[in-house]
Amino acid sequence: MPIYIDEKEQIFHLKTPNTSYVMKVWRGKYLAHVYWGKKIENFSMENALLSRTSGWSPMTDNEGYTLDFICQEYPTGCGSDYRIPAISAVYDDGSRTVELVYESYKLSKGKPKLKGLPATYVESEDEAETLEITLRDRVKNLKVVLMYTAFNDYDSIARSVRVVNDSDKDILLEKVLSGSVDFEDSDYDLVTLSGAWGRERRIERGAIRSGIHNISSNRGSSSHYLNPFFAMCTKNANENYGDVYGYSLVYSGSFTAGVEVDLAFKSRAYMGINDYDFSWKLEPNEEFISPEMIMVYSDAGFGKMSRTFHKLYRKRLVRGKYRDEVRPILVNNWEATYFDFTEEKIVNLAKSAKELGIELLVLDDGWFGKRNGDNSSLGDWYVNREKLPLGIDGLAKRVNEEGLKFGLWLEPEMISVDSDLYRAHPDWCIHVPERVRCEARNQLILDLSRKEVCDYIKDTINKLLKSANISYIKWDMNRNMSQFGSAGLPADRQKEMPHRYMLGLYDILEDIVSKNPDVLFEGCSGGGGRFDPGMLYYMPQIWTSDDTDAVERLYIQYGTSFVYPISAMGAHISAVPNHQTDRMTSLKMRGDVAMSGNFGYELDLTKFTDEEKEEVKEQIEQYKELRSFISKSDMYRLKSPYEGNDTAWMFISEDGCDIFAGYFRILCKVNGGIYRMKFTALDENAIYKVVDEDKEYTGAELMYIGLEVDMWGDYTSKTWRLKKKR
Ligand code: DGJ
Repeated sequence: MPIYIDEKEQIFHLKTPNTSYVMKVWRGKYLAHVYWGKKIENFSMENALLSRTSGWSPMTDNEGYTLDFICQEYPTGCGSDYRIPAISAVYDDGSRTVELVYESYKLSKGKPKLKGLPATYVESEDEAETLEITLRDRVKNLKVVLMYTAFNDYDSIARSVRVVNDSDKDILLEKVLSGSVDFEDSDYDLVTLSGAWGRERRIERGAIRSGIHNISSNRGSSSHYLNPFFAMCTKNANENYGDVYGYSLVYSGSFTAGVEVDLAFKSRAYMGINDYDFSWKLEPNEEFISPEMIMVYSDAGFGKMSRTFHKLYRKRLVRGKYRDEVRPILVNNWEATYFDFTEEKIVNLAKSAKELGIELLVLDDGWFGKRNGDNSSLGDWYVNREKLPLGIDGLAKRVNEEGLKFGLWLEPEMISVDSDLYRAHPDWCIHVPERVRCEARNQLILDLSRKEVCDYIKDTINKLLKSANISYIKWDMNRNMSQFGSAGLPADRQKEMPHRYMLGLYDILEDIVSKNPDVLFEGCSGGGGRFDPGMLYYMPQIWTSDDTDAVERLYIQYGTSFVYPISAMGAHISAVPNHQTDRMTSLKMRGDVAMSGNFGYELDLTKFTDEEKEEVKEQIEQYKELRSFISKSDMYRLKSPYEGNDTAWMFISEDGCDIFAGYFRILCKVNGGIYRMKFTALDENAIYKVVDEDKEYTGAELMYIGLEVDMWGDYTSKTWRLKKKR
């Protein structure tokens, strides 16, 4: 039973294996937040944080207290709480106060689905319990149901909010966050994953101080800029020590998140849909459901937080056949040919791929309409017969005959002005009448808030997938939204467009993914511009970044691993000099970095020398052996590229028997000292065989003395494969 309720004291205590989350109804009225952190088996209200809330405010309410000093569970900004609210609404009389008062609760087994939205799930009712707490604005009859799921096997709490208009008048919602958490203090650092194209998810850390620290996207997608994640950690926190509170939003659109430190140095964390370009007209009896927010507390640093996110997302967010199956090793033609390819070139690539042991060939952008550059044809998803005379079906057959599966690139959410689709439906794009339609990468975005547009995409893509033997789809999305407007919505609903777009996208993805259960989908957005839990619900892997330089990838993959498991990351070997950085790195380092992800190649394989071919064959053989366990293993980050010249990480299978570790050096330092690879999480007394070196050591030796790292030269790496002797 992970959720305990004390009806008399009106206490709600959610327990996961190692954490507790406690709420209490305060003064019989407001739902207060009491505690979140390390597990407390028996919670006693005697020492509760709430008792220290009153007395020293210059501004008190009629009953002699101020809400500003109360840790609240779902703040509304009503009365005397001046901090950032979780919900804002406007009623028909123009008034704006929302006062949420506790009404009732409901406890159930399992976890209900969130209608139309991606979310974590359970496979059996015994895996979790869900608590729904109903609050109500009694004056305006606005009902707010806070939903919490506590998992039995995952140290995570899932939250979302359902708002129901129980009145007989329209209510305009201007903000509905997924959750808010108050802390009595503010002695924390804030950790975020920020970036840009080619520089995704770089770790940033800094102290929080008075004011609001906002992390957000208003770009219509989660975006390259800031990932929908942040963590608050104690000052001493590192990979293995300290308290860390991680927040992750299961949503792919504009979001807002952050921390406010108030005048009493309390802090409030919050997360949800961005209210900047949002409002929602809720008619009588209608409901609005917020995206899901996942909260993970770790008492042992960032490593434990990440492993908790990884396990939950790998097992109870990602769905479908490829959740559990190994992913094929692929070659993608993008950096090999860009738009300049013919059927023969692609088939030759397939021939070389087969020779090397690659299993899937992916045909990237440029196969449709008359697309020979990025300025036309998006929306015209029919083959360009000048390039591919046998069509997609014919090409897929030829690739299959070479012994490879066939995959295809698509960008279904987009429309080029120079396309038959745009000529037929110029109003199907996101736009504002009389305003310039701002093109980015020479394209506009289809208005997925409109049903007919979504139907067109579902129909077109499902037909395409039926028309040929397509085993994989790379679903790209190459621009952010601007001129937020929809020809399908009335004036007073224009601000609903961005969220309606996301609901439309999720509806399309659900339809296509469920009708094509054998197809492996990989998300992409100009590299990793939409690398978020929302997309992972539909697509088990996402292209991590267009930056495939091995050095850059150390930062990107290390940062990405803060939240996302390696089974989610697409990682390919590309050519040197690298197309993004012009850097020359060894084939070995490129391979070793890419093996800590869904491995593949993104270059012209036909240009390999015989010697390189032999090395590549070995890489592929090595990865085929590793992939059976590393994608399901626990990751330990051992050295951070953000802190020095060397990076190291290791993966250990769930049963502890298989280990893979990598050590990477950026620049060679003469007389730079002795380096050792110190493993972790091994069994001290067990014997481990170092495969390839044919040596054996105890776990204690490997962890406390470590193996020597003898590397020479810039951009070098070394990997180890250990096997525990049973
Ligand atoms: C952006 C992606 O990130 C690339 O891998 C490639 O698919 C291009 N789009 C194609 O236009």
